[in-house]
Amino acid sequence: MTEEALQKASVAHNQVKRLPVSIPFDMLQDPLQSILRIPRKYGDMAEFRFGRYTVRVISHPDLIQEVLVSNHNHFVKSRTMQLGRKLMGKGLPASEGSFHRNQRRVIQPSFTHERVANYMQNAFTYANEAIGGWREGAPFEFRGEMMRLTLSIAANALFGTDIRSKAEETRSALVQSMEHFTIQYYLRVFYFNQDRNPFADFWEALPVGENRRYRAARVSLDRTIDRLVAGRRNDGTDHGDLLSTLLRSSDYKDETAPLSDGQIHDELMTFLLAAHDTTATALTWAVYLLMNDRESWARVQREADEELHSGTNESEPRVRLEFAGRVIAESLRMYPPAWIIGRQAVDECEVGGTRIRRGTTILMSQYALHHDSRFYPDPWTFQPDRWTQEMRAALPRYAYFPFGGGIRACIGEGFAKSMSALILATVAQRWNLDLVPTPEVVPHARVTLRPRRGMVVIPRKRNR
Ligand code: HEM
Repeated sequence: MTEEALQKASVAHNQVKRLPVSIPFDMLQDPLQSILRIPRKYGDMAEFRFGRYTVRVISHPDLIQEVLVSNHNHFVKSRTMQLGRKLMGKGLPASEGSFHRNQRRVIQPSFTHERVANYMQNAFTYANEAIGGWREGAPFEFRGEMMRLTLSIAANALFGTDIRSKAEETRSALVQSMEHFTIQYYLRVFYFNQDRNPFADFWEALPVGENRRYRAARVSLDRTIDRLVAGRRNDGTDHGDLLSTLLRSSDYKDETAPLSDGQIHDELMTFLLAAHDTTATALTWAVYLLMNDRESWARVQREADEELHSGTNESEPRVRLEFAGRVIAESLRMYPPAWIIGRQAVDECEVGGTRIRRGTTILMSQYALHHDSRFYPDPWTFQPDRWTQEMRAALPRYAYFPFGGGIRACIGEGFAKSMSALILATVAQRWNLDLVPTPEVVPHARVTLRPRRGMVVIPRKRNR
Protein backbone atom coordinates (compact mmCIF):
# COMPACT_ATOMS: atom_id res chain seq x y z
CA MET A 1 0.00 0.00 0.00
CA THR A 2 1.20 3.51 -0.73
CA GLU A 3 1.92 6.03 2.04
CA GLU A 4 -1.13 8.03 0.94
CA ALA A 5 -3.39 4.98 1.05
CA LEU A 6 -2.14 4.12 4.54
CA GLN A 7 -2.98 7.61 5.73
CA LYS A 8 -6.44 7.40 4.24
CA ALA A 9 -6.86 4.05 5.93
CA SER A 10 -6.18 5.38 9.42
CA VAL A 11 -9.25 7.58 9.79
CA ALA A 12 -10.45 9.00 13.09
CA HIS A 13 -12.72 6.38 14.60
CA ASN A 14 -14.20 8.25 17.48
CA GLN A 15 -17.21 9.42 15.58
CA VAL A 16 -20.36 7.41 15.34
CA LYS A 17 -22.69 8.46 12.58
CA ARG A 18 -26.41 7.85 12.93
CA LEU A 19 -27.85 5.80 10.08
CA PRO A 20 -31.24 6.63 8.55
CA VAL A 21 -34.32 4.75 9.75
CA SER A 22 -34.65 3.14 6.32
CA ILE A 23 -31.38 1.16 6.79
CA PRO A 24 -32.86 -2.08 8.23
CA PHE A 25 -35.25 -2.24 5.28
CA ASP A 26 -32.47 -1.47 2.79
CA MET A 27 -30.43 -4.22 4.38
CA LEU A 28 -33.29 -6.62 4.06
CA GLN A 29 -33.88 -5.72 0.43
CA ASP A 30 -30.31 -5.51 -0.79
CA PRO A 31 -27.89 -6.50 1.99
CA LEU A 32 -24.74 -6.40 -0.14
CA GLN A 33 -25.24 -2.95 -1.61
CA SER A 34 -26.30 -1.59 1.78
CA ILE A 35 -23.29 -2.96 3.61
CA LEU A 36 -20.97 -1.51 0.92
CA ARG A 37 -22.67 1.87 1.04
CA ILE A 38 -22.56 2.33 4.83
CA PRO A 39 -18.78 2.93 5.25
CA ARG A 40 -18.57 4.99 2.07
CA LYS A 41 -21.36 7.31 3.11
CA TYR A 42 -21.26 7.24 6.91
CA GLY A 43 -17.72 6.24 7.84
CA ASP A 44 -16.17 3.41 9.82
CA MET A 45 -18.62 3.50 12.72
CA ALA A 46 -22.30 3.97 12.15
CA GLU A 47 -25.28 3.01 14.22
CA PHE A 48 -28.99 2.47 13.81
CA ARG A 49 -31.85 1.50 16.05
CA PHE A 50 -34.41 -1.05 15.03
CA GLY A 51 -37.17 -1.56 17.57
CA ARG A 52 -35.45 -2.86 20.70
CA TYR A 53 -32.11 -3.33 18.99
CA THR A 54 -29.14 -1.03 18.64
CA VAL A 55 -26.86 -2.07 15.80
CA ARG A 56 -23.36 -0.68 15.22
CA VAL A 57 -21.74 -1.32 11.84
CA ILE A 58 -17.97 -1.12 12.05
CA SER A 59 -15.84 -1.04 8.93
CA HIS A 60 -12.21 -0.52 9.83
CA PRO A 61 -9.63 -3.28 10.46
CA ASP A 62 -8.42 -1.72 13.75
CA LEU A 63 -11.94 -1.59 15.12
CA ILE A 64 -12.65 -5.15 14.04
CA GLN A 65 -9.46 -6.24 15.78
CA GLU A 66 -10.72 -4.62 18.98
CA VAL A 67 -14.00 -6.54 18.87
CA LEU A 68 -12.59 -9.90 17.82
CA VAL A 69 -9.29 -9.85 19.66
CA SER A 70 -8.27 -7.21 22.19
CA ASN A 71 -11.74 -6.56 23.65
CA HIS A 72 -13.35 -9.91 22.90
CA ASN A 73 -14.31 -10.51 26.55
CA HIS A 74 -17.06 -7.92 26.22
CA PHE A 75 -18.79 -9.74 23.39
CA VAL A 76 -20.63 -12.97 22.70
CA LYS A 77 -21.88 -14.41 19.43
CA SER A 78 -24.71 -12.42 17.87
CA ARG A 79 -28.40 -13.26 17.94
CA THR A 80 -28.09 -15.23 14.73
CA MET A 81 -25.80 -17.72 16.41
CA GLN A 82 -27.99 -17.82 19.48
CA LEU A 83 -30.79 -19.00 17.17
CA GLY A 84 -28.28 -21.40 15.62
CA ARG A 85 -28.38 -23.38 18.88
CA LYS A 86 -31.63 -24.88 17.69
CA LEU A 87 -29.60 -26.59 15.02
CA MET A 88 -26.26 -27.34 16.60
CA GLY A 89 -27.03 -27.16 20.33
CA LYS A 90 -23.77 -26.39 22.11
CA GLY A 91 -21.56 -27.23 19.14
CA LEU A 92 -18.34 -25.20 18.89
CA PRO A 93 -19.63 -22.11 17.02
CA ALA A 94 -22.58 -21.71 19.39
CA SER A 95 -21.01 -22.06 22.86
CA GLU A 96 -19.46 -19.40 25.08
CA GLY A 97 -16.95 -18.78 27.90
CA SER A 98 -14.99 -21.53 29.66
CA PHE A 99 -17.20 -24.20 28.05
CA HIS A 100 -16.06 -22.97 24.61
CA ARG A 101 -12.41 -22.77 25.71
CA ASN A 102 -12.36 -26.37 26.96
CA GLN A 103 -14.27 -27.58 23.92
CA ARG A 104 -11.84 -25.87 21.55
CA ARG A 105 -8.89 -27.43 23.41
CA VAL A 106 -10.34 -30.90 22.82
CA ILE A 107 -11.18 -30.33 19.15
CA GLN A 108 -8.15 -28.30 18.00
CA PRO A 109 -5.69 -31.27 17.70
CA SER A 110 -7.86 -32.67 14.88
CA PHE A 111 -6.98 -29.61 12.79
CA THR A 112 -3.21 -29.38 13.13
CA HIS A 113 -1.09 -28.84 10.04
CA GLU A 114 0.01 -32.45 10.08
CA ARG A 115 -3.50 -33.85 10.43
CA VAL A 116 -4.77 -31.65 7.61
CA ALA A 117 -1.93 -32.85 5.37
CA ASN A 118 -3.02 -36.44 6.11
CA TYR A 119 -6.65 -35.63 5.30
CA MET A 120 -5.55 -34.50 1.84
CA GLN A 121 -4.66 -38.03 0.77
CA ASN A 122 -8.24 -39.22 0.95
CA ALA A 123 -9.47 -35.87 -0.30
CA PHE A 124 -7.48 -36.44 -3.48
CA THR A 125 -8.89 -39.95 -3.96
CA TYR A 126 -12.47 -38.76 -3.33
CA ALA A 127 -12.06 -35.75 -5.65
CA ASN A 128 -10.69 -37.91 -8.45
CA GLU A 129 -13.50 -40.39 -8.05
CA ALA A 130 -16.19 -37.68 -8.06
CA ILE A 131 -14.93 -35.85 -11.11
CA GLY A 132 -14.27 -39.14 -12.89
CA GLY A 133 -18.06 -39.59 -12.91
CA TRP A 134 -18.69 -36.40 -14.92
CA ARG A 135 -19.81 -36.96 -18.49
CA GLU A 136 -18.51 -35.02 -21.47
CA GLY A 137 -20.98 -32.26 -22.38
CA ALA A 138 -23.50 -33.13 -19.63
CA PRO A 139 -24.36 -29.98 -17.62
CA PHE A 140 -24.60 -30.08 -13.83
CA GLU A 141 -24.95 -27.69 -10.92
CA PHE A 142 -21.45 -27.15 -9.59
CA ARG A 143 -22.09 -26.01 -6.01
CA GLY A 144 -24.32 -29.00 -5.23
CA GLU A 145 -21.66 -31.33 -6.61
CA MET A 146 -18.98 -29.62 -4.50
CA MET A 147 -21.20 -29.87 -1.41
CA ARG A 148 -21.47 -33.65 -1.79
CA LEU A 149 -17.73 -33.89 -2.29
CA THR A 150 -16.60 -31.64 0.58
CA LEU A 151 -19.15 -33.26 2.90
CA SER A 152 -17.82 -36.72 2.05
CA ILE A 153 -14.21 -35.59 2.52
CA ALA A 154 -14.92 -33.97 5.90
CA ALA A 155 -16.97 -36.92 7.19
CA ASN A 156 -14.17 -39.27 6.23
CA ALA A 157 -11.45 -37.11 7.78
CA LEU A 158 -13.20 -36.25 11.02
CA PHE A 159 -15.53 -39.19 11.70
CA GLY A 160 -13.75 -41.93 9.76
CA THR A 161 -16.89 -42.76 7.83
CA ASP A 162 -17.67 -43.12 4.14
CA ILE A 163 -20.92 -41.28 3.46
CA ARG A 164 -20.48 -41.05 -0.32
CA SER A 165 -23.54 -43.19 -1.03
CA LYS A 166 -25.61 -41.02 1.35
CA ALA A 167 -24.01 -37.69 0.43
CA GLU A 168 -27.01 -36.37 -1.50
CA GLU A 169 -29.51 -37.32 1.22
CA THR A 170 -27.30 -35.71 3.88
CA ARG A 171 -26.65 -32.61 1.77
CA SER A 172 -30.32 -32.05 1.10
CA ALA A 173 -31.23 -32.50 4.81
CA LEU A 174 -28.52 -29.97 5.76
CA VAL A 175 -29.68 -27.48 3.12
CA GLN A 176 -33.27 -27.83 4.37
CA SER A 177 -32.14 -27.24 7.96
CA MET A 178 -30.19 -24.11 6.99
CA GLU A 179 -33.20 -22.83 5.06
CA HIS A 180 -35.38 -23.27 8.12
CA PHE A 181 -32.82 -21.49 10.25
CA THR A 182 -32.70 -18.53 7.81
CA ILE A 183 -36.49 -18.23 7.65
CA GLN A 184 -36.72 -18.34 11.45
CA TYR A 185 -34.04 -15.68 11.70
CA TYR A 186 -35.84 -13.24 9.42
CA LEU A 187 -39.15 -14.04 11.05
CA ARG A 188 -37.88 -13.37 14.56
CA VAL A 189 -35.42 -10.55 14.07
CA PHE A 190 -36.81 -8.59 11.15
CA TYR A 191 -40.53 -9.19 11.13
CA PHE A 192 -41.37 -9.75 14.76
CA ASN A 193 -38.36 -7.83 16.03
CA GLN A 194 -37.98 -10.16 19.01
CA ASP A 195 -35.89 -13.28 19.52
CA ARG A 196 -38.43 -14.93 21.78
CA ASN A 197 -41.73 -14.25 20.21
CA PRO A 198 -44.87 -16.31 20.84
CA PHE A 199 -46.10 -15.70 17.29
CA ALA A 200 -42.85 -16.94 15.79
CA ASP A 201 -42.91 -19.94 18.16
CA PHE A 202 -46.50 -20.65 17.15
CA TRP A 203 -45.63 -20.31 13.47
CA GLU A 204 -42.68 -22.65 13.84
CA ALA A 205 -44.84 -25.26 15.61
CA LEU A 206 -47.37 -25.45 12.75
CA PRO A 207 -47.10 -28.80 10.95
CA VAL A 208 -47.11 -27.23 7.47
CA GLY A 209 -44.89 -26.92 4.37
CA GLU A 210 -41.40 -25.82 5.26
CA ASN A 211 -41.74 -26.73 8.96
CA ARG A 212 -42.65 -30.28 7.99
CA ARG A 213 -39.75 -30.57 5.59
CA TYR A 214 -37.39 -29.28 8.28
CA ARG A 215 -38.61 -31.81 10.83
CA ALA A 216 -38.15 -34.66 8.36
CA ALA A 217 -34.64 -33.36 7.58
CA ARG A 218 -33.78 -33.22 11.28
CA VAL A 219 -35.00 -36.77 11.85
CA SER A 220 -32.82 -37.98 8.97
CA LEU A 221 -29.72 -36.09 10.19
CA ASP A 222 -30.21 -37.11 13.82
CA ARG A 223 -30.56 -40.73 12.77
CA THR A 224 -27.40 -40.63 10.63
CA ILE A 225 -25.38 -39.08 13.46
CA ASP A 226 -26.76 -41.35 16.19
CA ARG A 227 -25.96 -44.44 14.11
CA LEU A 228 -22.44 -43.19 13.56
CA VAL A 229 -21.81 -42.57 17.25
CA ALA A 230 -23.39 -45.86 18.37
CA GLY A 231 -21.41 -47.81 15.76
CA ARG A 232 -18.15 -46.33 16.96
CA ARG A 233 -18.98 -46.88 20.65
CA ASN A 234 -19.63 -50.55 19.93
CA ASP A 235 -16.47 -50.99 17.91
CA GLY A 236 -14.40 -49.62 20.80
CA THR A 237 -11.13 -49.01 18.90
CA ASP A 238 -9.36 -45.66 18.65
CA HIS A 239 -9.39 -44.53 15.03
CA GLY A 240 -7.31 -41.45 15.77
CA ASP A 241 -9.93 -39.09 14.35
CA LEU A 242 -12.13 -36.37 15.85
CA LEU A 243 -14.95 -38.80 16.67
CA SER A 244 -12.58 -41.05 18.65
CA THR A 245 -11.20 -37.99 20.44
CA LEU A 246 -14.70 -36.93 21.45
CA LEU A 247 -15.60 -40.42 22.66
CA ARG A 248 -12.51 -40.45 24.89
CA SER A 249 -12.91 -36.89 26.10
CA SER A 250 -14.27 -35.80 29.46
CA ASP A 251 -17.17 -33.42 29.82
CA TYR A 252 -16.26 -29.76 29.11
CA LYS A 253 -17.69 -28.67 32.49
CA ASP A 254 -17.37 -31.69 34.77
CA GLU A 255 -14.02 -33.35 34.16
CA THR A 256 -15.00 -36.48 36.08
CA ALA A 257 -17.76 -37.38 33.61
CA PRO A 258 -17.35 -38.52 30.00
CA LEU A 259 -18.65 -36.33 27.21
CA SER A 260 -22.35 -37.07 26.78
CA ASP A 261 -23.80 -38.56 23.60
CA GLY A 262 -25.90 -35.41 23.29
CA GLN A 263 -22.81 -33.19 23.20
CA ILE A 264 -21.04 -35.49 20.74
CA HIS A 265 -24.15 -35.33 18.59
CA ASP A 266 -24.01 -31.50 18.65
CA GLU A 267 -20.34 -31.51 17.63
CA LEU A 268 -20.95 -33.84 14.70
CA MET A 269 -23.94 -31.84 13.52
CA THR A 270 -21.80 -28.69 13.68
CA PHE A 271 -19.05 -30.14 11.54
CA LEU A 272 -21.49 -31.45 8.96
CA LEU A 273 -23.06 -28.00 8.77
CA ALA A 274 -19.70 -26.22 8.64
CA ALA A 275 -18.32 -28.56 5.99
CA HIS A 276 -21.23 -28.77 3.55
CA ASP A 277 -21.64 -25.19 2.53
CA THR A 278 -18.70 -22.82 3.08
CA THR A 279 -15.94 -24.71 1.25
CA ALA A 280 -18.26 -25.77 -1.59
CA THR A 281 -19.36 -22.16 -2.00
CA ALA A 282 -15.75 -20.92 -1.99
CA LEU A 283 -14.90 -23.42 -4.73
CA THR A 284 -17.90 -22.37 -6.79
CA TRP A 285 -16.85 -18.72 -6.72
CA ALA A 286 -13.26 -19.61 -7.53
CA VAL A 287 -14.36 -21.55 -10.61
CA TYR A 288 -16.76 -18.78 -11.60
CA LEU A 289 -13.96 -16.22 -11.49
CA LEU A 290 -11.64 -18.52 -13.42
CA MET A 291 -14.29 -19.05 -16.11
CA ASN A 292 -13.98 -15.34 -16.73
CA ASP A 293 -10.18 -15.39 -16.71
CA ARG A 294 -9.04 -18.21 -18.97
CA GLU A 295 -5.40 -17.29 -18.62
CA SER A 296 -5.52 -17.94 -14.86
CA TRP A 297 -7.45 -21.17 -15.49
CA ALA A 298 -4.63 -22.31 -17.80
CA ARG A 299 -2.11 -21.47 -15.05
CA VAL A 300 -4.05 -23.58 -12.53
CA GLN A 301 -3.95 -26.42 -15.08
CA ARG A 302 -0.23 -26.11 -15.69
CA GLU A 303 0.47 -26.09 -11.96
CA ALA A 304 -1.80 -29.12 -11.47
CA ASP A 305 0.09 -30.99 -14.23
CA GLU A 306 3.37 -30.35 -12.48
CA GLU A 307 2.26 -31.03 -8.93
CA LEU A 308 -0.40 -33.70 -8.94
CA HIS A 309 1.07 -36.45 -11.14
CA SER A 310 -2.34 -38.06 -11.38
CA GLY A 311 -2.35 -41.84 -11.68
CA THR A 312 1.24 -42.33 -10.58
CA ASN A 313 1.15 -41.48 -6.90
CA GLU A 314 -2.44 -40.67 -6.03
CA SER A 315 -1.93 -41.76 -2.47
CA GLU A 316 0.67 -39.08 -1.90
CA PRO A 317 -0.24 -35.86 -3.63
CA ARG A 318 2.44 -33.25 -3.12
CA VAL A 319 0.23 -30.37 -2.25
CA ARG A 320 2.34 -27.40 -3.27
CA LEU A 321 -0.35 -25.59 -5.17
CA GLU A 322 0.87 -22.07 -4.87
CA PHE A 323 -1.13 -20.47 -7.66
CA ALA A 324 -4.32 -22.39 -6.83
CA GLY A 325 -3.85 -21.08 -3.27
CA ARG A 326 -3.70 -17.51 -4.57
CA VAL A 327 -6.84 -18.08 -6.62
CA ILE A 328 -8.64 -19.30 -3.50
CA ALA A 329 -7.34 -16.34 -1.46
CA GLU A 330 -8.55 -13.89 -4.10
CA SER A 331 -11.94 -15.50 -4.52
CA LEU A 332 -12.41 -15.54 -0.72
CA ARG A 333 -11.69 -11.82 -0.90
CA MET A 334 -14.16 -11.07 -3.68
CA TYR A 335 -16.90 -13.50 -2.63
CA PRO A 336 -16.35 -14.36 1.04
CA PRO A 337 -18.81 -17.19 1.87
CA ALA A 338 -19.01 -15.78 5.42
CA TRP A 339 -19.85 -12.26 4.26
CA ILE A 340 -20.75 -10.77 7.63
CA ILE A 341 -20.23 -11.67 11.28
CA GLY A 342 -21.87 -10.31 14.37
CA ARG A 343 -21.28 -9.96 18.07
CA GLN A 344 -23.38 -8.77 20.96
CA ALA A 345 -22.01 -6.63 23.81
CA VAL A 346 -22.52 -8.33 27.20
CA ASP A 347 -21.65 -5.19 29.14
CA GLU A 348 -20.93 -1.54 28.56
CA CYS A 349 -17.56 -1.14 26.86
CA GLU A 350 -15.65 0.89 24.32
CA VAL A 351 -14.69 0.41 20.70
CA GLY A 352 -12.56 3.01 18.93
CA GLY A 353 -12.85 5.22 22.01
CA THR A 354 -16.65 5.34 21.79
CA ARG A 355 -19.20 3.89 24.20
CA ILE A 356 -20.98 0.68 23.32
CA ARG A 357 -24.11 0.01 25.33
CA ARG A 358 -24.85 -3.43 26.73
CA GLY A 359 -26.86 -5.50 24.26
CA THR A 360 -25.62 -3.61 21.19
CA THR A 361 -25.16 -5.78 18.14
CA ILE A 362 -21.90 -5.22 16.26
CA LEU A 363 -21.82 -6.05 12.56
CA MET A 364 -18.53 -6.53 10.69
CA SER A 365 -18.70 -7.35 7.02
CA GLN A 366 -15.99 -9.22 5.16
CA TYR A 367 -17.70 -8.27 1.91
CA ALA A 368 -17.39 -4.54 2.72
CA LEU A 369 -13.79 -4.68 4.00
CA HIS A 370 -12.61 -6.89 1.15
CA HIS A 371 -13.87 -4.36 -1.42
CA ASP A 372 -12.55 -1.29 0.34
CA SER A 373 -10.26 0.64 -2.01
CA ARG A 374 -8.30 1.98 0.98
CA PHE A 375 -6.85 -1.51 1.31
CA TYR A 376 -7.16 -3.03 -2.16
CA PRO A 377 -6.33 -1.16 -5.35
CA ASP A 378 -8.90 -2.07 -7.99
CA PRO A 379 -11.01 -4.08 -5.53
CA TRP A 380 -13.54 -5.32 -8.10
CA THR A 381 -11.05 -7.04 -10.37
CA PHE A 382 -9.91 -10.61 -9.93
CA GLN A 383 -6.12 -10.56 -9.48
CA PRO A 384 -4.75 -13.71 -7.85
CA ASP A 385 -1.25 -12.28 -8.24
CA ARG A 386 -1.98 -9.46 -5.84
CA TRP A 387 -1.40 -12.03 -3.02
CA THR A 388 2.36 -11.62 -2.75
CA GLN A 389 4.26 -11.98 0.54
CA GLU A 390 4.86 -8.22 0.55
CA MET A 391 1.21 -7.43 -0.01
CA ARG A 392 0.17 -9.80 2.80
CA ALA A 393 2.71 -8.24 5.16
CA ALA A 394 1.52 -4.69 4.41
CA LEU A 395 -2.21 -5.43 4.64
CA PRO A 396 -3.80 -4.52 8.00
CA ARG A 397 -4.69 -7.83 9.68
CA TYR A 398 -8.46 -7.35 9.65
CA ALA A 399 -8.73 -5.89 6.16
CA TYR A 400 -8.98 -9.57 5.17
CA PHE A 401 -10.83 -11.95 7.46
CA PRO A 402 -12.71 -14.62 5.49
CA PHE A 403 -12.22 -16.97 8.45
CA GLY A 404 -12.98 -14.46 11.21
CA GLY A 405 -10.36 -14.03 13.94
CA GLY A 406 -9.40 -14.14 17.59
CA ILE A 407 -10.58 -16.94 19.88
CA ARG A 408 -13.54 -17.67 17.60
CA ALA A 409 -11.55 -17.88 14.36
CA CYS A 410 -12.55 -20.71 12.04
CA ILE A 411 -11.05 -23.94 13.34
CA GLY A 412 -11.27 -25.44 9.84
CA GLU A 413 -9.31 -22.68 8.04
CA GLY A 414 -6.27 -24.79 7.12
CA PHE A 415 -8.46 -27.73 6.16
CA ALA A 416 -10.74 -25.57 4.00
CA LYS A 417 -7.83 -23.87 2.21
CA SER A 418 -5.93 -27.09 1.47
CA MET A 419 -9.07 -28.93 0.40
CA SER A 420 -10.18 -26.08 -1.89
CA ALA A 421 -6.81 -25.75 -3.63
CA LEU A 422 -6.55 -29.52 -4.06
CA ILE A 423 -10.07 -29.94 -5.47
CA LEU A 424 -9.61 -26.96 -7.79
CA ALA A 425 -6.35 -28.37 -9.17
CA THR A 426 -7.83 -31.87 -9.52
CA VAL A 427 -10.79 -30.56 -11.51
CA ALA A 428 -8.62 -28.30 -13.68
CA GLN A 429 -6.19 -31.09 -14.46
CA ARG A 430 -8.85 -33.31 -16.00
CA TRP A 431 -11.57 -31.01 -17.31
CA ASN A 432 -12.28 -27.74 -18.98
CA LEU A 433 -15.52 -26.21 -17.86
CA ASP A 434 -17.96 -24.01 -19.75
CA LEU A 435 -20.33 -21.83 -17.84
CA VAL A 436 -24.00 -22.07 -18.84
CA PRO A 437 -24.98 -18.39 -19.11
CA THR A 438 -28.52 -18.77 -17.77
CA PRO A 439 -29.37 -18.41 -15.01
CA GLU A 440 -26.91 -15.57 -14.55
CA VAL A 441 -24.50 -16.12 -11.64
CA VAL A 442 -25.21 -13.36 -9.12
CA PRO A 443 -24.28 -13.25 -5.42
CA HIS A 444 -27.07 -13.78 -2.95
CA ALA A 445 -26.47 -13.01 0.72
CA ARG A 446 -28.07 -15.70 2.86
CA VAL A 447 -26.25 -17.38 5.78
CA THR A 448 -23.44 -17.70 3.25
CA LEU A 449 -22.80 -15.61 0.15
CA ARG A 450 -23.72 -17.89 -2.70
CA PRO A 451 -24.81 -17.74 -6.33
CA ARG A 452 -28.55 -16.97 -6.28
CA ARG A 453 -29.63 -19.79 -8.57
CA GLY A 454 -26.54 -21.94 -8.39
CA MET A 455 -23.98 -22.28 -11.17
CA VAL A 456 -24.41 -24.71 -14.03
CA VAL A 457 -21.30 -25.88 -15.89
CA ILE A 458 -20.62 -28.18 -18.83
CA PRO A 459 -17.52 -30.36 -18.50
CA ARG A 460 -15.26 -30.88 -21.55
CA LYS A 461 -12.50 -33.47 -21.39
CA ARG A 462 -9.14 -31.81 -21.40
CA ASN A 463 -6.78 -32.83 -24.22
CA ARG A 464 -3.22 -33.00 -23.00
C1 HEM B 1 -13.99 -21.60 2.91
C2 HEM B 1 -14.50 -22.26 3.92
C3 HEM B 1 -14.83 -21.66 5.27
C4 HEM B 1 -15.08 -20.36 5.61
C5 HEM B 1 -15.10 -19.13 4.71
C6 HEM B 1 -15.33 -20.34 7.04
C7 HEM B 1 -15.58 -19.20 7.78
C8 HEM B 1 -15.72 -19.16 9.15
C9 HEM B 1 -15.84 -17.96 9.94
C10 HEM B 1 -15.86 -16.53 9.39
C11 HEM B 1 -15.95 -18.32 11.25
C12 HEM B 1 -16.05 -17.38 12.45
C13 HEM B 1 -17.47 -16.95 12.71
C14 HEM B 1 -17.56 -15.91 13.80
O1 HEM B 1 -16.56 -15.43 14.29
O2 HEM B 1 -18.70 -15.55 14.14
C15 HEM B 1 -15.90 -19.77 11.29
C16 HEM B 1 -15.99 -20.52 12.44
C17 HEM B 1 -15.98 -21.90 12.45
N1 HEM B 1 -15.74 -22.73 11.38
FE1 HEM B 1 -15.38 -22.18 9.48
N2 HEM B 1 -15.24 -21.62 7.52
C18 HEM B 1 -14.93 -22.47 6.48
C19 HEM B 1 -14.72 -23.82 6.53
C20 HEM B 1 -14.82 -24.59 7.67
C21 HEM B 1 -14.59 -26.01 7.74
C22 HEM B 1 -14.15 -26.89 6.56
C23 HEM B 1 -14.83 -26.39 9.03
C24 HEM B 1 -14.72 -27.74 9.66
C25 HEM B 1 -14.66 -28.88 9.04
C26 HEM B 1 -15.21 -25.20 9.77
C27 HEM B 1 -15.56 -25.18 11.10
C28 HEM B 1 -15.79 -24.03 11.83
C29 HEM B 1 -16.10 -24.04 13.26
C30 HEM B 1 -16.29 -25.27 14.13
C31 HEM B 1 -16.21 -22.69 13.65
C32 HEM B 1 -16.49 -22.16 15.05
C33 HEM B 1 -15.19 -21.92 15.78
C34 HEM B 1 -15.38 -21.38 17.20
O3 HEM B 1 -16.36 -20.66 17.44
O4 HEM B 1 -14.52 -21.65 18.05
N3 HEM B 1 -15.19 -24.13 8.91
N4 HEM B 1 -15.75 -20.25 10.00
